[in-house]
Amino acid sequence: MEPEIPLKATALRGILKYVPLFRGETFVIAVDGSVVADAGFRSLLTDLAVLHSLNIRLVLVHGVGQQIRTLSTERDLPITDAYGDGPTDEATLQLALDAGGQVLAALQAGFTERGIPCALPNAVRLTERGIIRGTDYQRSGRVEKVEGALLSQLLAAGTTPILSPVAADRSGRLLRANADEVAAAVATKLGASKLIFLTSHTGLVVHGERLTNLPVDQLEPLLAGEATGMEPQVQGKARAALVALRGGTPRVHILDGRVRGGLLTEIFDKVGLGTMIHSNDYEQIRPAGPADAEAILQLVREGMRGDALRARGAEELAGEIADYFLYEIDGGLVACAALHPQADGRSAELASVFVHPSYQGRGIGSRLVGFAEKRASELGLDRLYALSTQSSPFFREACGFTETDAATLPEPLRGLHATACRGSRVLTKSLFPS
Ligand SMILES: CC(C)(COP(=O)(O)OP(=O)(O)OC[C@H]1O[C@@H](n2cnc3c(N)ncnc32)[C@H](O)[C@@H]1OP(=O)(O)O)[C@@H](O)C(=O)NCCC(=O)NCCS
Repeated sequence: MEPEIPLKATALRGILKYVPLFRGETFVIAVDGSVVADAGFRSLLTDLAVLHSLNIRLVLVHGVGQQIRTLSTERDLPITDAYGDGPTDEATLQLALDAGGQVLAALQAGFTERGIPCALPNAVRLTERGIIRGTDYQRSGRVEKVEGALLSQLLAAGTTPILSPVAADRSGRLLRANADEVAAAVATKLGASKLIFLTSHTGLVVHGERLTNLPVDQLEPLLAGEATGMEPQVQGKARAALVALRGGTPRVHILDGRVRGGLLTEIFDKVGLGTMIHSNDYEQIRPAGPADAEAILQLVREGMRGDALRARGAEELAGEIADYFLYEIDGGLVACAALHPQADGRSAELASVFVHPSYQGRGIGSRLVGFAEKRASELGLDRLYALSTQSSPFFREACGFTETDAATLPEPLRGLHATACRGSRVLTKSLFPS
């Protein structure tokens, strides 16, 4: 059995900073059959219960590889493929169904014991893989449709959907899919903020070396050639990761799900345990430098004209340029925001949040605010303030801010609000859970 990773009491403070960022977010967790069969599974259930208690919405997709192999040996029935990416004959499908029953029973029992509400919805429709380069894949399927609305309803009710890799096609014929591919399709459909593969490998190991953190750009070439230097199962996860990242999932993790306390460590610890692959989103957001002042002024001019933003001159902007961060698409500036730390050393003003009108409504504003929250947490701050004349609903409804009284503002923001802020509403957000 793997040793448990001890959680230091001092680590709790660090963890709490992440809690507001993840509250209400969806994590899709793909758990291998071998992890469910391992003695460490009970500890994993505790980690899942912690995530559930933090109001993180979980979707679980389980595999059956190890159970199929065990049943095949016990019943002396040869199988065509254990993981759902090769051909599946009738006998293998039958074993997959029996194996799926075993895994589901273990999951249901564990979830019930930990008090996590769960459901087994019929939310994935498969279609047959067909014939690939002359090989008939028989009862192997790939995802045709994910019932996003059904899953969202369950998640909104605080219920964790558990999905199996065996599902029906349009005509009601059962097929067997690869669980990692199902998980990637579900993450894409739900706009999940994380897809987490829990496996019996230590992470994305390439030529014997575990990669800890890599951008998606570096994953693509790794998968390009024939000899990737990865174990076949890990390679399958890396390919599914790529699908999810291309589909908009910002973070994919691959880690050993048998390590006790490993899931929480991966999510909340800076160093992590396995491999995190991330999209280029944060590369699109970069700190501003003096050379950007003119472009920022041009961008926000319209906001200042319409009084959505406080008027700033070139000189004022140049003086606080280091507080700005910019969102670029193809090298062009499309949005900006600024984080002005306050004299109390604990809070900052989130200011000048502006998205070019042609790019509004695409999630850029909320991504910038999320970035600012993360940045503020990294700086050790625990509260943000925003002064807004026209976008307080955005801060309240999309970003979790609440309205507050101007008297609560720290200096020098209180003085600025009194003299120059055009009767703005005052919004605030704690970076710790309430
Ligand atoms: C407010 C602003 C930053 C939002 O940026 P955006 O990229 O359009 O916002 P997003 O696409 O991330 O929207 C996220 C959510 O907020 C909602 N939203 C956006 N603007 C909103 C507004 N003014 N009021 C209420 N909800 C709003 C969106 O409908 C979306 O909801 P959904 O997740 O349910 O679909 C942008 O509209 C803007 O630049 N406005 C002018 C400048 C301004 O007022 N800045 C704030 C002063 S500091």
